[in-house]
Amino acid sequence: MHFGTQKLKLKEPQRDRMRAACSFNAQVLDMVRSRLQPGVTTEEIDNWVHTYTLDHGHTPACLGYLGFPKSCCTSVNDVICHGIPGPYRLQEGDIVNIDLTSIVDGWHGDQSETFLIGEVSDEARQVTQCSFDALYAAIDALQPNCRISEIGKAIVAVARQFKFSVVQEYVGHGLGRQFHQEPSIPHYPTPESRLQRLAPGICFTIEPMINVGGRNTTLDRGDGWTVRTKDGTLSAQFEHTILMTEDGPEILTLTADGPQKGHQF
Ligand code: MF3
Ligand code: CO
Ligand code: CO
Repeated sequence: MHFGTQKLKLKEPQRDRMRAACSFNAQVLDMVRSRLQPGVTTEEIDNWVHTYTLDHGHTPACLGYLGFPKSCCTSVNDVICHGIPGPYRLQEGDIVNIDLTSIVDGWHGDQSETFLIGEVSDEARQVTQCSFDALYAAIDALQPNCRISEIGKAIVAVARQFKFSVVQEYVGHGLGRQFHQEPSIPHYPTPESRLQRLAPGICFTIEPMINVGGRNTTLDRGDGWTVRTKDGTLSAQFEHTILMTEDGPEILTLTADGPQKGHQF
């Protein structure tokens, strides 16, 4: 690995700082959850996130990151990821992924959930369930010093059961003082991921993007950010920040009010 993995292994005081950043980030997501309803615009969601984060003395990591213009990502229906909040009003039947990252005293917490707006189609519910189950199957596959490819193997197996596809162009990532760092966490097995192991002390995300149709993506040429399914089908995503410990994985971004392991949408 580029960095040398030694540098990525957090000791207990640093682990506590990641715990604090991630638990604040989860609190922001619970705040959004309590206010989300049909008729709100994605820009209103962004304002809630921005104001709440600043009011608590912290920083939204997305704002200004590589020029990103808003404080969170809101990805509706066929948008896979990196949707930019704007005037669009959420309506009954939509699914929206809300992806939040906070910087707390210099450390990053990163997570997302897909929300169902009112009653949604069976397909929308199923792709959401698939992404959620895939995330937890991947977490269940983790053991100290396991291969990174265990994550992709578990996710691909769940997607296959649902007959959905796994996006390849966007991946999970190490994080800590930086938003995105090594190791790369692909959601499908790759030669490199078979060679890399997750030692205790490493923090990373798992964030499977699942498409109802084909896995291919298109990047919006107009805004340079919005990623959509090439075939226009629905896409869903869930993300947690995980700390590998000597005893196994610790999910750092658990919410108080959100769907927990085993949830049925
Ligand atoms: N939060 C996203 C991730 O999971 C990254 C968003 S970068 C942004 O890695 F610039 F689009 F905000
Ligand atoms: Co991430
Ligand atoms: Co994220």
